[in-house]
This record gives sequence, C-alpha cells and structure tokens, in this order.
Amino acid sequence: MKAIAVIALLVLVACAQAKVYTRCEMARILYHDHGVKNLTTLANWICLIEHESGFNDEAVGALNSNGTRDYGLFQINNQYWCKGNVASSDSCKIACTALLGNLDASWKCAQLVYKEQGFKAWYGWLYHCNGTAPSVASCI
Ligand SMILES: *[C@@H]1O[C@H](CO)[C@@H](O)[C@H](O)[C@H]1NC(C)=O
Ligand SMILES: *[C@@H]1O[C@H](CO)[C@@H](O)[C@H](O)[C@H]1NC(C)=O
Ligand SMILES: *[C@@H]1O[C@H](CO)[C@@H](O)[C@H](O)[C@H]1NC(C)=O
Repeated sequence: MKAIAVIALLVLVACAQAKVYTRCEMARILYHDHGVKNLTTLANWICLIEHESGFNDEAVGALNSNGTRDYGLFQINNQYWCKGNVASSDSCKIACTALLGNLDASWKCAQLVYKEQGFKAWYGWLYHCNGTAPSVASCI
C-alpha cells in the first residue's frame, strides 16, 4: 500500500511539472526563437496549439477512436509521426514520449507535418482557426 502511495505521489509530481505556457509566452518563443515573423502565420500556430493542447507541453490525448494517440503541444499522432506503442511510419524519427516537455523537438516535428500537409493536418486548426485565428501582435 505504501508503495502505491509513493507511486501515486510521483505521478502527481510528474503531472505538476508539466509546463503550461501562456498564450503570449508561446507567441514570443515562436517569434523570437523559432523565426515565425509573419504575424498571420504566428496567429495560426498559436491558435492551433491552444486548441490542440491548451499550451500544455506534457499533453497526451485520449485514445482516438482508431486506437491512435496524440502527444505534446502539437498533439503529434503516434501512427504517422512519432513512435509509440502502435505501428507507426515514425516520420519524425522520434519516440512520442520524447515530444513531451520538449518544445524544440515538438516544433521540429510539427514543421514536418506542416510541410507535408499544412495546417489542415490538425483538427484543432480546421475547426477553430482557419481564417479566424486571433492576432497575437500585442504579445510580441
Ligand atoms: C504572411 O503569411 C500569409 C499566409 O501565408 C501571407 O498571405 C502573407 O502575405 C504573409 N505576410 C507577409 C508580410 O509576408
Ligand atoms: C486516427 O485518428 C486520428 C485522430 O482522429 C487521425 O488523425 C488519424 O488520421 C486516424 N488514422 C486513420 C488511419 O484513420
Ligand atoms: C478554410 O476556410 C476557407 C474559407 O472558409 C475555405 O475556403 C477553405 O476550404 C478552408 N480550408 C480547409 C483546409 O478546410
């Protein structure tokens, strides 16, 4: 019982360490550190992340109806892009869990998704951001 309590505590601590960025914090990072200088493009990325992960860098999605799962800020799918516990083409050549808590790795993989499919690869963007992404200019 004690071991279970300790494990439960460790899980809580691990969850507590997930970083949840603010909207403006994320906008500044993408603008200054990742070179997203086009404010329209930046607004789309920020809207996308907001609706995919709520800016939580440890976000792991609920199991999708087809048995796949999505990981991290950009909710990268484990069937195509990263390697998890289902057969995957692993296009980003990275373990899905390595995307968690790792903005740089997540951004890099998201760039590949974007290059191949554009923003429409993300339902969060399709349903909430296409043509309606709010400006983040005041964050910069
Ligand atoms: C920013 O990106 C949008 C969408 O791709 C494009 O239409 C627009 O021309 C770009 N703006 C500038 C200033 O480059
Ligand atoms: C499985 O579901 C996810 C999320 O809805 C989707 O992105 C992916 O394309 C689906 N895979 C297949 C093979 O339908
Ligand atoms: C985005 O919205 C525009 C305007 O409503 C629409 O024409 C376009 O097809 C949409 N893009 C996607 C990928 O659905």
